[in-house]
Amino acid sequence: MANGSSGRGRFGQLGFIFAAVGSAIGLGNIWKFPYITYANDGGSFVLVYLLAIGLIGLPIMMAELVIGRRTRQSPVGAFVEAAKDAVGGKVWGAVGALGTLGSFVLLSYYALIAGWTVYYFGQCLSWSFRGFETGGQTLGDSFGAFLGNGPLQIGFHALFMAATVGVVALGVHDGIERVTKTLMPVLGAILILLVVNSFWSPGFGEAIRFLFHVGPVTADGLLEAVGHAFFTLSVGMGAMITYGSYVRSKQSIPRSAAAITLLDTLVALMACIVMFSIIFGVDAAERAGTFGKSATILFTTLPQMFYDLPFGVVLAPLFYLLVGFAALTSTISLLEVVAAYLIDRRGLSRRQASLFSGGAVFLFGIPSALSLGAVTGMSSWSPFGDRTEGFFDTMDYTVSNWILPLGGLFTAIFVGWFLSARLSRSELSRGHGETRWFPVFQFLLRFAAPAAILWIIWAVIGGRSFA
Ligand code: PHE
Repeated sequence: MANGSSGRGRFGQLGFIFAAVGSAIGLGNIWKFPYITYANDGGSFVLVYLLAIGLIGLPIMMAELVIGRRTRQSPVGAFVEAAKDAVGGKVWGAVGALGTLGSFVLLSYYALIAGWTVYYFGQCLSWSFRGFETGGQTLGDSFGAFLGNGPLQIGFHALFMAATVGVVALGVHDGIERVTKTLMPVLGAILILLVVNSFWSPGFGEAIRFLFHVGPVTADGLLEAVGHAFFTLSVGMGAMITYGSYVRSKQSIPRSAAAITLLDTLVALMACIVMFSIIFGVDAAERAGTFGKSATILFTTLPQMFYDLPFGVVLAPLFYLLVGFAALTSTISLLEVVAAYLIDRRGLSRRQASLFSGGAVFLFGIPSALSLGAVTGMSSWSPFGDRTEGFFDTMDYTVSNWILPLGGLFTAIFVGWFLSARLSRSELSRGHGETRWFPVFQFLLRFAAPAAILWIIWAVIGGRSFA
């Protein structure tokens, strides 16, 4: 059965888990998490991150799923409907609008980065067949040249957006569910293969030690952990409200959210093991020279390191395929937020909505694509002074530092304080049963999450920037 009685789509039980895990697992897990973990000295940072995921991310995810399933609408309508009897009424729709806008903007540059993984997948295939060779350039130089090549940037961005539109246009059940059900097991298999392979790497022992040693964490590290908890779980932007609106009544929201969170965390840790085993396998001097703490490691040093490994010719392309799949199952969920808005609120058909929103996101991504060196004016456009550099960076700054935390804050406050406890509790127990822990859930939403997020916002106002 592809559609529910309402004519909107419905996920199968397992289908929802695959789709939501697919949304959660993305560039955030495989690229960003290893990078920020490395920059924050591993160990205790990982512990803090796990706490942030469990105490702040998970309750907000549950809150979003509650709003979505309760109202069976995309974020704007969902907030308007859920707030019908609450103080503020329709004004809460603005939170849904903020999330929808956030998804739109995030997708415009997320798909761009995702396009790079396709390009590097192609590069690796050719290196695997013809031998690793960069024509006398360093990988860093060739990455810089790739970024500065406007047509190539726009081309790969278009490619990724086209794939995303293709899936979303097919619908909740026949598109999103089917594709994520196919891609996620492949992704899991590739990742397990890479982890098992790293057991034999000379850097494996040090990677594990680095990941789990106890050491100091800075206040910045704490903030970064909380901010990343939102990003990695896809909360704060209405993606889980939208997916939640397609969840069956007999499915348990708490158990599903726990499974999604657990799998997302597991994948982030596995990605760290894979990357750190490679990084710690080279000697410290070389590591300092080539890796430093650069965010672009995935495209500047990692390919070369792969080709120094046994089986590198197989592992390198597989790795970029993995990152590409992870990104696609996330871009699908972002486009679905925007498309579902056009379907629910503007009466467009699914095909029209996917094409129109995908096209608009593509166009909006063009200045980002050209701001990595291709067009000087765009590469230096910085409305926030020295906090950002260029259009791409400015969009990332706005989403990561403002829209995501604010979306999470208002969602937590809404469900914690404004939505009737009877209602949210009944939604949580539907398909689940006993909810004795409800007061803990409510406490986290009412106090812990808002406090942590307000602290982030305070730091951002003070000049801190999370990328
Ligand atoms: N969770 C995704 C990642 O870790 C990013 C994302 C954020 C996707 C918000 C959808 C909504 O890469």
